[in-house]
Amino acid sequence: MSGETAKALDTLLVSQHVAYIQSLDERKEDLEYWLTEHLRVNGLYWGLTALDLMNHKDVLPREDVIQYLLSVQHANGAFGGHHGHDPHILYTHSAIQILVTLDALDRINTEPVVQFIASLQRPDGSFSGDAWGEVDTRFAYIALSCLSLLKRLDAVDVDKTVEWILQCKNYDGGFGSRPGSESHSGQVFCCVAALAIADALHHVDRDMLGWWLCERQVKNGGLNGRPEKLEDVCYSWWVLSALATIGRLHWIDKQKLTEFILSAQDPEDGGIADRPGNMVDVYHTHFGVAGLSLLGYPGLKRIDPVYCMPEYVLARIGLARSYQD
Ligand code: FPP
Ligand code: ZN
Repeated sequence: MSGETAKALDTLLVSQHVAYIQSLDERKEDLEYWLTEHLRVNGLYWGLTALDLMNHKDVLPREDVIQYLLSVQHANGAFGGHHGHDPHILYTHSAIQILVTLDALDRINTEPVVQFIASLQRPDGSFSGDAWGEVDTRFAYIALSCLSLLKRLDAVDVDKTVEWILQCKNYDGGFGSRPGSESHSGQVFCCVAALAIADALHHVDRDMLGWWLCERQVKNGGLNGRPEKLEDVCYSWWVLSALATIGRLHWIDKQKLTEFILSAQDPEDGGIADRPGNMVDVYHTHFGVAGLSLLGYPGLKRIDPVYCMPEYVLARIGLARSYQD
């Protein structure tokens, strides 16, 4: 890598990342575009949120985004990942996050969405992701996040969900995808954020979990998802957000993590990869920028660690909260 390029990676290359995200919909000749078709609604949420944090939300045409979302909504209120794809809580969540960010919730009838989510709750308090029935702590978090964004937490049994999430807690202080599953930072984010939404964070041993989370930082400053795994930029979100929510963000080396995220940028074509030198994608671009926002990187809007949405959006709908660090 030339000295000039190394220098360029000392800062967040905002204009390159904006151009990269803007170009995503024009890449129909790339295999990657078709391989990720089922994630188009998630991709829109990742791209829009990263742009918003970088103060460039308006480069995505608001009305086109809304029309696209309306075109992938099913009769039962839930959203598919793209045209012709089955409805799932994963895409429904991204769609609701986008509509809230664009201040456009009034463009849909939210009651069927609420009923779809409520229909996925099981007697033990857990949630499946769709009619096929897979259960995962990701879906419990998403259910509570969506319903709280829609101000309809009353539609499900939140206490039962808290009970079930606590069954997914392990002896190391972390959480897995189901009772008995190994601790994983992605699932830790989901469980801690769900408990925060349910106002039940008192069930978390902050020091023990904070220790497990800050142990995820490796020598080069990056964070991994589990012991012995490689560092990855997206864990700058999964690990850091949970640390922020439990008030232990200061337990990691922020400077080194900032440098790691910046080193995974593509200085020519924009975008951020999972680690330096790899191919960029919109998922890691979003979570890299979101991580930098949590780290207080200058010039970025602040992100909320529970909803993974800009703080100002949550303030607008009365869901702003403060996290002590
Ligand atoms: C790691 O995935 C991450 C998770 C398991 C958590 C995913 C959380 C959601 C989908 C909830 C919605 C999230 C937000 C931010 C609104 P991975 O497949 O990369 O794991 P790996 O590193 O083990 O492959
Ligand atoms: Zn990753």
